[in-house]
Amino acid sequence: MKRSLSLLIPVFFFGCVLSQKSLTETEKDRAVRIGDAAVMKLMRELKTNLGMALKEGGFPKAIDFCADKAQKLTQKVNRELVVVKVKRVSDRYRNPTDKPDTLDLKVINYFKEKLREGKLPPYYIVESEKNGERVVIYYKPIRVAPFCLNCHGDPARMNPEVLRVLKERYPNDKALGYRPGDLRGVFKVVIPEKELKEG
Ligand code: HEC
Repeated sequence: MKRSLSLLIPVFFFGCVLSQKSLTETEKDRAVRIGDAAVMKLMRELKTNLGMALKEGGFPKAIDFCADKAQKLTQKVNRELVVVKVKRVSDRYRNPTDKPDTLDLKVINYFKEKLREGKLPPYYIVESEKNGERVVIYYKPIRVAPFCLNCHGDPARMNPEVLRVLKERYPNDKALGYRPGDLRGVFKVVIPEKELKEG
């Protein structure tokens, strides 16, 4: 019994959940191109606005900015992208909107395992279904840089004003205590499969 179970789990994991079998190489290439473009667009939007808020009032001000604007900017980018959807997801989310679903969590755990082995891939593609439609999901890992620790680091070393604002805005914050290099989460880009077909 034990033996057959341990055989089943990997098959389920790779054969079913993280399936990308039916995609041709061209379709995979397209998914990567579309995924990267969406990630860049969201990243640029968030970075530019965070930079402006930091200049204006340092980290406490920038947190107010993130809390007010991160989701709105994400929605704006998605309106511009029209059919493709992009968002950030984390297993240790600060904003509950960024909570992962079962598939997200499997991919995050896969990235974490690869990171531990020193073999973190630049992205991962999975086929799935959303509202009855075939989709391809492009995931890109997000890692912690030293700069991020100002708002995601060890609370004992963080600015008390920053911590105060965070506590007020996010009473159930899970996104503290990171170290540089950690996996902070993923960009998730959902692409309708028909966007990848020829012609
Ligand atoms: C000025 C403070 C600040 C800095 C600096 C900062 N973050 Fe955040 N981060 C936040 C806030 C606030 C949120 C929640 C935004 C929201 O409500 O959508 C957040 C959310 C996120 C999320 C979305 C998942 C979640 O937990 O909701 C990711 C991923 C993330 N940050 C990664 C980073 C990375 C990587 C860096 C460094 C490059 C960074 N952050 C730097 C304040 C910051």
